Amino acid sequence: MKKILFLIYIVGSICYSQKFENLAETPPLGWNSWNTFATDIDEQLVKDIADQFVELGLKDAGYEYIVLDDGWMAKERDKNGNLMAHPEKFPSGMKALADYIHSKGLKFGLYNCAGATTCAGYPGSRGHEYQDALLYASWDVDYLKYDWCDTDKLNAEGAYITMRDAIKSAGRPIVFSICEWGDNEPWKWAKDVGHSWRVTGDIVNCWDCELGHGSWASFGVWKIINLRKNIRKAAGPGHWNDFDMMEVGNGMTDAEDRSHFAMWSMLASPLILGNDLRTISEETLKTISNKNVIAVNQDPLGIQGFRFLNENNIEIWVKPLDNESWAMVFVNMNNEPINLNFDWNKHMIGDDINNRILDVKHNVYKINDLFNNTSLGNTSKKLKATIGVHDVLMIKLQKS
Ligand code: GLA
Repeated sequence: MKKILFLIYIVGSICYSQKFENLAETPPLGWNSWNTFATDIDEQLVKDIADQFVELGLKDAGYEYIVLDDGWMAKERDKNGNLMAHPEKFPSGMKALADYIHSKGLKFGLYNCAGATTCAGYPGSRGHEYQDALLYASWDVDYLKYDWCDTDKLNAEGAYITMRDAIKSAGRPIVFSICEWGDNEPWKWAKDVGHSWRVTGDIVNCWDCELGHGSWASFGVWKIINLRKNIRKAAGPGHWNDFDMMEVGNGMTDAEDRSHFAMWSMLASPLILGNDLRTISEETLKTISNKNVIAVNQDPLGIQGFRFLNENNIEIWVKPLDNESWAMVFVNMNNEPINLNFDWNKHMIGDDINNRILDVKHNVYKINDLFNNTSLGNTSKKLKATIGVHDVLMIKLQKS
C-alpha cells in the first residue's frame, strides 16, 4: 500500500510540477497597457483596444493577447483574501472583460507579482499563489505576466516555480510570462518554468539611452539588445527571451520604429505592442502589421537571430529560418544615410549553434526586401541599397 501511495505521489508530482506545454510555440503576439497608460486603465479602454485589434487588421496579422498590466486590481483583497478588480476602473469585473475579449476571437492577459505588493503598490501574489491561480482560471485568463517587485529575500527560481505549479494545478492553460528583469539570469533556469522571461529592466522609448530612476534604470532599444545579445541559445519554441513590450509608435522616428520592430522580430522576442491603438498613425500601423516581418518572428524553427557583424557602423544581424531560408537586417546606426554595398562572396555567414551555413558559394539565394515587399535580385551580385538614418533594410534569402 505504501508503495502504491508513493507511486501515486511521484506520478502526481510529475504531472503537476510542470508548465503547460504546447503554448507559445511561436513568440506571443499582443498588446500590453503599461508603456502608454501605466495604471491609468479602465474597461472602456480595454474594449476599445480589442475593437481596434479587429478593425485595424491586427488580429488578422496574428496579434492575439490583450494584457492588462499593473493597476487593474483593487487596493485590498476581499475578506476571503481574493483579489478584486478595481471597482471604479473595472465595474463589470474581469470575467465580463475576458468574455468581451474572447467574443472577438482574442485572448486575455493579466499582471501580478511574486512579491507582497506589485511595483505600483497593489496586492501581490506572495502567499496567495494557488488562490490567485484559481481565480484567474475562473475568469478565463489566458496569459499571466508575473513581476518581481517587493520580493525581499525570495528565491527567484523557487518563486516562479510556485506560481507555475499553481497555474498548472488550477487546470486552465495560461501562458506564463516571467518578468524578473534578468537579475537572476532566468535564461539559465526558466525553460521549464515559463513560456518567456524578460531579459532586462524596463524599456523606454529611445534609440540608445539609459534613464536613471535612482535605484533602477530603464533602457533604450539598443541598450537592451547589446546587454543581452549573447543568450540566444536559451530561446526556442515555448520558451523565449522577452526583450520587453515594444515602444513602436511611442515617440521615436518612423525609421527607428521600423528598426526596433525588425530587431524584436529577429530576436524571436514576444511582439507585444505598447502604443495607443486608438490614435495610431498610418506609418506605425504599416510597420507593426507587416506580415513578412511578423513571419520572421513567427518562424517555426524558433531560432533567435544573432549579430553577424558591425561594418561601417551598420549592424548586420541574421536569423536562420525554415526551408533553409535566412532573414537579415542591416541597421544604419549612423546619423546620416549610408550606401550599402554588401559583397556576399566576402562574407561567410554561419550559425555555429544550429549548424547552418548561408552558402552563397554553392547556391544562389533570391533576395526579397521584407518591408517594401520587392525583389532585390539574388546573391550572385553585391547587395546595394541606401539606408536612411537609424533605418533598416530587412531581407529574406531563399534558395532559388
Ligand atoms: C515593472 C515591470 C514593468 C511593468 C511595471 C508595472 O517595472 O518591469 O514592465 O509591469 O513593473 O508596475
